[in-house]
Amino acid sequence: MNILVTGGAGFIGSNHVRHLLGTSDDRVVNLDLLTYAGNLENLAGLEDHPRYRFVRGDVRDAALVRGLLEEERIDAIVHFAAESHVDRSLDAPAAFLDTNTRGTLVLLEAARDRELGCFVMVSTDEVYGSLAPDAPGFTEETPLAPNSPYAASKASADLLCRAFHHTFGLDVRITRCSNNYGPYQFPEKLIPLMLANALEDQPLPVYGDGQQVRDWLHVSDHCRAVDLVLREGRPGEVYNVGGRNEWANLDLVKLLLAKLGKPESLIRFVTDRPGHDRRYAIVADKIREELGWEPAYTFETGLEATVRWYLEHRAWWETIRSGAYRDYYETMYGEKGRYGDRA
Ligand code: NAD
Ligand code: TYD
Repeated sequence: MNILVTGGAGFIGSNHVRHLLGTSDDRVVNLDLLTYAGNLENLAGLEDHPRYRFVRGDVRDAALVRGLLEEERIDAIVHFAAESHVDRSLDAPAAFLDTNTRGTLVLLEAARDRELGCFVMVSTDEVYGSLAPDAPGFTEETPLAPNSPYAASKASADLLCRAFHHTFGLDVRITRCSNNYGPYQFPEKLIPLMLANALEDQPLPVYGDGQQVRDWLHVSDHCRAVDLVLREGRPGEVYNVGGRNEWANLDLVKLLLAKLGKPESLIRFVTDRPGHDRRYAIVADKIREELGWEPAYTFETGLEATVRWYLEHRAWWETIRSGAYRDYYETMYGEKGRYGDRA
């Protein structure tokens, strides 16, 4: 197959490109705009791979997308490209609608015109909204109730995919995964941000009371799930992906500190995130039963490997944190920033 991966220079996309090249004979064309979150260092070593091509470009550029589908005789699209950080979506929601929703529409229209074989939409569990502490987890039938601009933009894209399948018969498959962790995650997200701050003996900003719950999955298990949906999933179906691995943020931050041998006195409780979803939890029975997917990592082995990766790749995150990221950090966590006040 010739596969177009969008957003393949980001966290999950770059892990997915490596997964595809390492486990299949498929050709991979990676279309990525290289926004602040895209980083070619995430793909180091693949530059001269005979089955790989990188194209810097925008998924919103219809002419570029159509040209690529034609020129590369693309059989399938795996769509990761997105603005992905909830905190950024609070200040700049329009950019999220534009990239996540309109960008997906451009890809869907190009795919439809070309009668493309398969379109995998990488959606998120955040489209379901927030769960009460004792409620059962999200299933594929849970109504969508997105709460942040990020989640709303992803839910809109997710629903456009559904509509293109229903109305035009396009073979679209949707995955909705819980929070990922692992190598190459941009250090604005919880786990890499806390690891980097702890390693630099800087305060660890925990939003609100730190009792919000997330369901963590190693990125390579997510990539395996997305690939399985592409190869063995059913057209028009939604597949939840998650590791039955719920952690309160504060407990997770304490665990990271313990793994690094750093004191809990680094924890700093800050103002809560506006509209903060209290809990996410995924029921992934459908993909387990229908496609035989199981996570390969336990949280213990996955977190151990991830902590080691951030220790061994200090230059990777130090380079990011020394650039434009510093302005972002100041806007969010500086004295006058959104999370500048102690809670
Ligand atoms: P990321 O922010 O690390 O990477 C996003 C990538 O998309 C970057 O390389 C960026 O340059 C690229 N991009 C952004 N706008 C683009 C555009 N207009 N055209 C082309 N490329 C563009 O994100 P991530 O964490 O790797 O997430 C990837 C996808 O997975 C997203 O769609 C996200 O919603 C979804 N997802 C993420 C998680 C998670 O925990 N990170 C969980 C479930 C689903
Ligand atoms: P994040 O990694 O941004 O993912 P998401 O909001 O998409 O789940 O955040 C995970 C959780 O950690 C979320 O409840 C917000 C919280 N959090 C903090 O407490 N402090 C931080 O500095 C960050 C980035 C997140």
